[in-house]
Amino acid sequence: MNINWYPGHMKKTKESIKKNLTLVDIVYELVDARIPISSQNPDIDEIIGEKPRIKLLNKSDLADQNFNLEWQNYFKEKGIHSVLIDAVHSKGLKELLDLTYKLTENKRKQLLRKGIKKRPIRIMILGIPNVGKSTLINSLSKRKGAKVGNKPGVTKANQWIKIKGDLELLDTPGILWPKFEDKEVGLNLAFTGAIKDELLDIDSLAVKLVERLNLISSEYIKNRYKVEVDGKDPHDIIMEIGKKRGAMISGGEVDFSRVSSIIIDEFRKGKIGRITLERPVDL
Ligand code: G4P
Repeated sequence: MNINWYPGHMKKTKESIKKNLTLVDIVYELVDARIPISSQNPDIDEIIGEKPRIKLLNKSDLADQNFNLEWQNYFKEKGIHSVLIDAVHSKGLKELLDLTYKLTENKRKQLLRKGIKKRPIRIMILGIPNVGKSTLINSLSKRKGAKVGNKPGVTKANQWIKIKGDLELLDTPGILWPKFEDKEVGLNLAFTGAIKDELLDIDSLAVKLVERLNLISSEYIKNRYKVEVDGKDPHDIIMEIGKKRGAMISGGEVDFSRVSSIIIDEFRKGKIGRITLERPVDL
């Protein structure tokens, strides 16, 4: 999904999200577990304000299990509730719903005191593009396929989806912008596939990715592609992988762009391993 964010658009988005926030009791803030900081919106605290919230570390199936726990501890120390989820395979949803009930208990009591028994507890999802918002809505609502609002003849007004007991989810998630003026953030988003309009060409992105993976551990590229990486230039490593994979152009030269897309694609699909790019210790 490509969204051209510009100040006017950001202001409007923020206003419409804030309006929707008045309708809900709790917010699910989605981030990518591989890059929990780069995939968050820079103004998120101000936008959510005092509303109860849960940080959902999504795509946790693609992230390193040890770092998943480290990130949870990190957020816990900051007083932020977090849950590890995998929206595609509906993992972590029970824990999420249990925590949702716990965090909205006061709201229920408050409604009861006011004599409003039937009012459901309402939830809204927020996150940057591609973080998994639609996938999560589908998993929570157990529905497949087209969004309600996309069907002809169906109103595009907000709809509430019943998910469990007295919990209801707003069918339109809030789409926020990342901190795109930061170069490191941009790279992290490009590596994980969050931005499609690449800020770098595919060849340079692959060089940067191989460089980054080798910095984290020399084992990832070595084990996946059976090539030597120690003391080697990322460009040469990619050439080597190209030869091994037979990604050649006529004349026997390595098709650098083809190998580059293979590496990037395999990283995004988790084939090189469960890899967390951002770590709490680096902050
Ligand atoms: P969005 O609404 O926030 O924009 O994100 P969306 O649900 O469309 O998800 C973006 C991509 O991320 C989808 O891949 C989706 O399957 C994948 N995804 C979402 N949650 C998870 C998760 O927990 N684990 C894994 N492994 N993948 C997840 P896609 O359909 O292949 O789209 P694309 O990558 O071709 O853009």
